Amino acid sequence: MTTAGEQQGPVRIDALGDWRRSHYCGDLRASDIGSELLLVGWVAGRRDHGGIVFIDLRDRTGIVQIVLDPDDSPIAHERAHALRSEYVIAVRGKLSARPEETRNPSLPTGEVELRVADIRVLSVSRVLPFPLDDASEANEAVRLKHRFLDLRRPRMTSNLIARHRATTAIRNYLDERGFIDVETPILTRSTPEGARDYLVPSRVSPGLVYALPQSPQLFKQILMVSGFDRYYQIVRCFRDEDLRADRQPEFTQVDIEMSFVGQDDVMALTEGLLVAGARAIGAPVPETPFPRMHYEEAMRRFGTDRPDTRFGLEIVELSDLMRESKARILASAVERGGIVAGILAEEGKQLSRRELDELVAWVQTLGAGGLAWIRAAEDGWQSPLAKFFDEGEREKICERTGLRTGGVLFLVAGPRGHALQVLGQLRLRLGQMLRRIPEGQWNYLWVTDFPLLEYNLEAKRLSAVHHPFTAPKDEDLELLATDPERVRAQAYDVVLNGTELGGGSIRIHRPDVQSQLFEALGIDETQQRQQFGFLLDALSFGAPPHGGLALGLDRLCMLWLGESSIRDVIAFPKTQKAFDPMSEAPSAPNTAQLRELGLRFVVRE
Ligand code: AMO
Repeated sequence: MTTAGEQQGPVRIDALGDWRRSHYCGDLRASDIGSELLLVGWVAGRRDHGGIVFIDLRDRTGIVQIVLDPDDSPIAHERAHALRSEYVIAVRGKLSARPEETRNPSLPTGEVELRVADIRVLSVSRVLPFPLDDASEANEAVRLKHRFLDLRRPRMTSNLIARHRATTAIRNYLDERGFIDVETPILTRSTPEGARDYLVPSRVSPGLVYALPQSPQLFKQILMVSGFDRYYQIVRCFRDEDLRADRQPEFTQVDIEMSFVGQDDVMALTEGLLVAGARAIGAPVPETPFPRMHYEEAMRRFGTDRPDTRFGLEIVELSDLMRESKARILASAVERGGIVAGILAEEGKQLSRRELDELVAWVQTLGAGGLAWIRAAEDGWQSPLAKFFDEGEREKICERTGLRTGGVLFLVAGPRGHALQVLGQLRLRLGQMLRRIPEGQWNYLWVTDFPLLEYNLEAKRLSAVHHPFTAPKDEDLELLATDPERVRAQAYDVVLNGTELGGGSIRIHRPDVQSQLFEALGIDETQQRQQFGFLLDALSFGAPPHGGLALGLDRLCMLWLGESSIRDVIAFPKTQKAFDPMSEAPSAPNTAQLRELGLRFVVRE
C-alpha cells in the first residue's frame, strides 16, 4: 500500500468534460461483469504489483478495485503512478471477474474489478492529516477540524446515510397519519425548557434580543389552537447548557403535537414511530407496547427517572432497620427524616479493597454524606461499620437485601431524593465495573406519573418538572391550590437503556388553569402577561385539548447505530466547549457589527 507522499512533478488535471458516471462503486456485483462502465471517486489506496497498479476507488456507496495494466492501456497505466491518496479520478473500462485467488469475500464488490481503458485525473489532494480507514481513530479534535475528510470515512458516511433513512421513514410514518409539517421561527422569544437561551441582539430594535428556541413548544400549541390538529416538525433546537456525550448546543427534535387526544394516544403513536425508525435504520425493531413505570417506582428502584432496566443491582430501602442502629451515621439520617438505602453486588468479591475505597471517594464527589460498604467474607463481615451490628441486625439486613458470602452491600444515608440519586449513579457505575450491562439488549421504557412541580432549593420556589405548560392529572387538579407538590402531571418520558429519548405531556388548554400554574411557580400576573400573554390569549379563543412529545433525533440515531458519541451522527457537531473547530465558530464580532448592534463587550476578570 502506498500512502500519500509529496508529488514529484505537477500532475496534469483533466476536465470532467462529457464523462458521466454510469454506476456507483459500491453497487457493482458479479452480475455486472462484462459491462462497460464509467466510475468516479477518490483514491482510497494504491498498490503496485509487478508493473500492474491496483487502486481502491471509493465513493459514498463503498469501494471497488480498479486495475491499471499496461496491456489494457499503456497511457492510463503510466498516469496511475502519479496517483496518491484522495485524488479524484474518473475511469472508463470493462468490469471483469477477479481471478479466483484474489477475490475478497469481506468486500461486497470483492468478486469484481474494473480493467481501466482510460483515466481522467480531476483533482489532487494534499497529504492527509490522518488516515481515513475506519480502523484508525484519529484524535477527535483533528477529525473535527478536517470534518470534510472525516465524513469521507465509511463509518461516518454510512451513519449520515442511515440517519437520513430513519428521518425519511419518520416523515413518511407521520405523513401517512395526517401530520402536517409546519416550520416555526428560529428568531423568537424565550421558551422555558430548563436550559439557558442563546440570544441574538436585534439591530433594528436596539437593546432587544431574540432567543433561539429551546424547543417549538409554544408555537406547536398555538398551531393546535389554530386547528391544525396534527403537527410535526424535524426541527433544530438550541440550548446553552453544559455538554455531555449525548448533548449538543444545537440538536434536532422530532417534534409532535396532536389535538383531542390523551396520553395513551401520544404514546402509541410514538411507539409506532420508533418501530418505523428502527426498522429503517437497521436497528432491532422494538416490541410494542413498551413497558411502563411510574416515576415514583423508577426513583425508588433505580434512583433515576430514566432507569436502565437491562440489569439488576436495584436499590433496597433499609430505613426501618436502621432507625435504632448503633451506627449513628445511619440512624441519624432516618431520625432527620431521610433514608438509608443500599445496593447489593452479589459478585462483590471481584471488587478489591482499593476499588471500594475509590468508590467511597467518588461518591463523596457527588456531594453525598458518604458511602458505607459491608463485605460478607468467608470469615464474617468486613466493614468500617461491622462493629455496630449485632447478630440479629445482621440477619435482618441479609434477609432484606439478599447479602450472602461473597457479596458486598453498599449503603447510602441522607435526604431521600439525594440518597436515591446517588445510589442511581452508583448503580450505573457498579453495572459497568461488574460487567453487568448486557450488549445487544434494547430496553425501551415509558416513565409516567411524574410530579408536576418540585421544590427548587437554589431558587427557593417551586419549578416545573417538565415545563410549565404540562397539564396536571384531572383528579389532582384541586390539589394545585392546596398542596401543589403532590400534584401529578400528565407527562411521560420514553427511555432506552437508561437514556432519555424523548418526553412530552398533555398540555394545559384552559387559560385559568395555566394562570393558576404560573402563580404556583411564582410568576405574577404582570410577568405572565409580559412573558406569556400571547399563549394566554391563544388559550382564551377556543383551545382544543391537546398534547404531544418531542424525541431527540441525534440521541436516537446514536443509540440505534451503536455509537457512543452524539457527534458521530451529526455532520458538523460542536466540541464539549460548543466550538466548531472547522469553521472556528464562535468568533469575535468586528467593531462595525458591534456598533450597529449597539453592543460593547466587557471582559470579565
Ligand atoms: P425535552 O426538553 O425533554 O422536551 O426535549 C426532548 C428531547 O430532546 C433531546 N434533547 C437533546 N438532545 C441533544 N442535545 C441536547 N442538548 C438535548 N436536549 C434535549 C432529548 C430529550 O428527551 N418541548 C418539550 C417536548 C414536549 O413536551 O412535547 C421538550 O423539548 O432526547
